[in-house]
Amino acid sequence: MKILVLGSGAREHALVLALRSEQAGHDLLAAPGNAGIAHDATLVDIDIVDPVAVTGFAIENAVDLVVVGPEAPLIAGVADELRERGIPVFGPGRAAAQLEGSKAFAKRIMSAAEVPTGRATHARTRDEVAAALDEFGAPYVVKADGLAAGKGVIVTEDRAAALAHADTYLPSGPVLIEEFLSGPEVSLFFLSDGDTVRALSPAQDFKRALDGDEGPNTGGMGAYSPLPWLTEQFGSEAEFVAHVTETVALPVIRRLDEEGTPFIGLLYAGLILTPSGVRVIEFNARFGDPETQVVLPRLTTPLSRLLLAAATGTLEDESQPEFTDDVAVTVVLASEGYPEKPVTDRALTGLDDAAAVEGVHIAHAATAVAGDGLVATGGRVLNVVALAPDFRSARERAYEAIGRIGLEGSHHRTDIAARVE
Ligand code: AMP
Ligand code: GLY
Repeated sequence: MKILVLGSGAREHALVLALRSEQAGHDLLAAPGNAGIAHDATLVDIDIVDPVAVTGFAIENAVDLVVVGPEAPLIAGVADELRERGIPVFGPGRAAAQLEGSKAFAKRIMSAAEVPTGRATHARTRDEVAAALDEFGAPYVVKADGLAAGKGVIVTEDRAAALAHADTYLPSGPVLIEEFLSGPEVSLFFLSDGDTVRALSPAQDFKRALDGDEGPNTGGMGAYSPLPWLTEQFGSEAEFVAHVTETVALPVIRRLDEEGTPFIGLLYAGLILTPSGVRVIEFNARFGDPETQVVLPRLTTPLSRLLLAAATGTLEDESQPEFTDDVAVTVVLASEGYPEKPVTDRALTGLDDAAAVEGVHIAHAATAVAGDGLVATGGRVLNVVALAPDFRSARERAYEAIGRIGLEGSHHRTDIAARVE
């Protein structure tokens, strides 16, 4: 198959690596990609948020399937244009992608579909914000309504900080004040063809910048999969997945279909397991980053088959995706100053040594070739991904590997999956 992957992060590198690992002779293209993706796919130079440019390229090059990585092309309507021209595309249209693009839209769909989520109020003025903060009490949760690259949310005990956060976003529209939900977080991915869903294996992401879940929110500093502790609470991973499929994924997919905006692509359910049950904290309309980097290496069902089935409305013919018993841990290497102000264009060394550790591979995010070496070009630079029969070995391998990488001023969390047995 000729497959075009849109995006340039470690998530897209993980997608390309999973497609490559099928050894099915796929012709893999990626736009714009990065220095790591360039080893595993042919990079093409197109503007991925331009629906006409992407569709024109796909037609001219007889692409069989387009896989959209990030949210920006979805919100720009790239999937709509491709679908209109009859090209199979894994990724929802602009309207269904509002599930991620607008928290107000997501709340409305969840309410209509009776999906459990935190109580929330929309506040349009500073007075409304203050009143809602006092109604819900501390800890305070304030969210910007639109896309904010993981920076739109604050969870704090500090009322003044909550108000200040709201002040930042109020000029561009209402903010959401939400009830604080307490419990472990789970990221669960569903492939959807608009009607039928198939779940992947759950993962957990570490969103804060520093060890011990301190510091600012980031795009994600590490992840692991599967989540063995789910078994204690739900009997098995399969029972948990079945529960979320019935109470969250299918009601949302059906509701979007009823509204004439079917969701074809990846429904990312961000969940908190509270003492009173599973609650949705957010939906994304795309694979999660860095969770994808630990979920896909464990997938044994060919990814291309699942993505194509979702894109062409035939998921019902596919059995549940299967996963190896090996576990996966990923640790993100971040540039100095990330997330506030990453310092870029510094030399990156030792990647071959890192990848030589047993069970380890590297998923590149912000890397580029400079001279005969590599430089870091952004905040989250790369992911070290380790597979092993158990978490202790996977962690050891991941940290051994990241220790072999050189990047001046870089930082990473040292406690990814630290408490998982
Ligand atoms: P979001 O962008 O909505 O996923 O929020 C980012 C992070 O903030 C989540 O992964 C949670 O760790 C935290 N968060 C969001 N909403 C809540 C909430 N209602 N209660 C507690 N933590 C939350
Ligand atoms: N890891 C969180 C996200 O992809 O939004």
